[in-house]
Amino acid sequence: LAKVEVDMASIPEGKNVILKWRGKPVFIRHRTAEEIAEANSVSLSELRDPETDADRTKKPEWLVMLGVCTHLGCVPIGEAGEYGGWFCPCHGSHYDISGRIRKGPAPLNLEVPAYDFNEADGKIVI
Ligand code: FES
Repeated sequence: LAKVEVDMASIPEGKNVILKWRGKPVFIRHRTAEEIAEANSVSLSELRDPETDADRTKKPEWLVMLGVCTHLGCVPIGEAGEYGGWFCPCHGSHYDISGRIRKGPAPLNLEVPAYDFNEADGKIVI
């Protein structure tokens, strides 16, 4: 299986990068402490697709997910929308800073693919 790697040191805190993996965009965000706190402040009862932030991350500062809207597959825009995360312009789905669906027609959170940290090389491997 094709793997893609990204050097963690190349992504400053508070920034997103987009990679391509098996023809799909993968979003990686190096989250700030404030963003992590925000993600953890949301109660599961507010969520359409209830997942804690810890369910969605291996290390809280790194959010890794497929950049494919769970409505009809458009690519959401980063640092946009009403919940401080991603916004899908196709039909107006808003995702939060954990990539969880908060408003609009999408039924599910942005999907988290399998990934790992290669600590020795300072890389995330998807
Ligand atoms: Fe994203 Fe419809 S494809 S809201």
